[in-house]
Amino acid sequence: MNRSAPDPDRLLADLPEATGRLLAGVLAAAGRTGAELAWAGGGIRDLLRGEPPSNVDLVVVGDALPLARRLATDLDVPVKIHPRFGTATLELTDGSLLDLATARRERYAAPGALPEIEPSSLVDDLARRDFTANALALRLTPAPRLLLDPHRGWPDLRSGILRVLHRASFVDDPTRILRGVRFEARLGWRFEPETERLAREALSAGALAALSGDRLRRELRRTCENFERLSFVWDRFHGLGLLAGLDPELPTAYATDEAAVARVAAAARRLDFAGAGRPAPEPWLTALLAIAASMPVAARGRLDLRLDLDRTARRALLRGGAGAGFPRRLPAAGESAHVVTQAFTGLGSEELCLVAAAGDSASAWVTRYLTELSRIALRIGGEDLVATGLPSGPHVGEALRATLDARLDGRIGADDELAFALGVARRVLGAEREPGDRAAAGRTGARPWGAGA
Ligand code: CTP
Repeated sequence: MNRSAPDPDRLLADLPEATGRLLAGVLAAAGRTGAELAWAGGGIRDLLRGEPPSNVDLVVVGDALPLARRLATDLDVPVKIHPRFGTATLELTDGSLLDLATARRERYAAPGALPEIEPSSLVDDLARRDFTANALALRLTPAPRLLLDPHRGWPDLRSGILRVLHRASFVDDPTRILRGVRFEARLGWRFEPETERLAREALSAGALAALSGDRLRRELRRTCENFERLSFVWDRFHGLGLLAGLDPELPTAYATDEAAVARVAAAARRLDFAGAGRPAPEPWLTALLAIAASMPVAARGRLDLRLDLDRTARRALLRGGAGAGFPRRLPAAGESAHVVTQAFTGLGSEELCLVAAAGDSASAWVTRYLTELSRIALRIGGEDLVATGLPSGPHVGEALRATLDARLDGRIGADDELAFALGVARRVLGAEREPGDRAAAGRTGARPWGAGA
């Protein structure tokens, strides 16, 4: 990159075609409303780094809403207006979003609380931002176009340095610490030493306590963007003292097995959830489950409350043993497929990653479960058995279960289902008439890894 700040017109000349067209539409609408308008935030950061901009965040001096409405009409797209914050989001035809915000000044009435805001200048709007490298803006109108950089963000951006604008920044808004880690992981940037010290200081003073579970969880999700950098992210969380802010027992759990996140991330990258038609595991939750697996259940319950988890995540966290326990019980010599399938059924994608991280044999079972076993379904149903003249009753369900187990184990093919199921049902019925002989009736026996294992 050049040492001198790039020329704004040159920056705009290199835009991807769709962004260029969008901006031309924005400028036409702004010309008609007479708005003073700048492009700020992550999109400008990307552009200054020579990357295609990930988004377009516009800042309007005065009031963003008339321009947002005008633009929505011009582009014939829906717009969501938030009058209280003076912000609007347009949903563009390609599915991307265009944000417009009224330039504002912020005041934090209490640490971690959402700030009180009032309309202000572009310079004030940049002064409320997280890091110098995120506090640049490109003024689009009125002419001439200008790169606004009141906090010397350009040199920091060029060197990949994250520097807060003022000492209370992390206390005002502790999510900025997580945002910083996100940029470290994504861009290879680093906290400048004083900024890092302020982050540690804020965390050890309990800054995270001011954040709601919902905000904390959403920020964790945003920070853990992928599995590639997941172990870096959690290592940074640990190093900065952020884990203790989530739960006092989390640092110890992390230190118990520092490679746990790397292992689970590697396992997640090997598995093909999309191909299996299952939801992709969420990196943040996968890491949290991997670390929390060694925590006592009471601490896991506390963590659940702190992060205000949804039902599925809570079940996975509280079950904890699913990840830790199953692999230990997966016999290296090869368990039968139906037993493994029972054990895996009902586990979330994140939990399957934990199982797969336990070793080669466990990983092979999870792969086989995703690609093959979880897709096996019986072609026949209870009504097919009853249609042959078999009386209905519990033996029908039992026969179907035994047949599915036989299919999973490869003992029978799809065409053999009906004959096999009838055989089992008749044996069960016969055994019921001769009490004491149920073992011979074809039942698959106890389910060692039943629900809730
Ligand atoms: N911002 C901030 N403090 C926050 C959140 C956001 O200062 N807690 C500012 C930053 O200037 C940021 C901009 O608002 O660049 C837009 O925020 P957001 O879209 O959340 O982040 P981006 O920087 O665009 O990051 P990403 O590329 O991940 O979207």
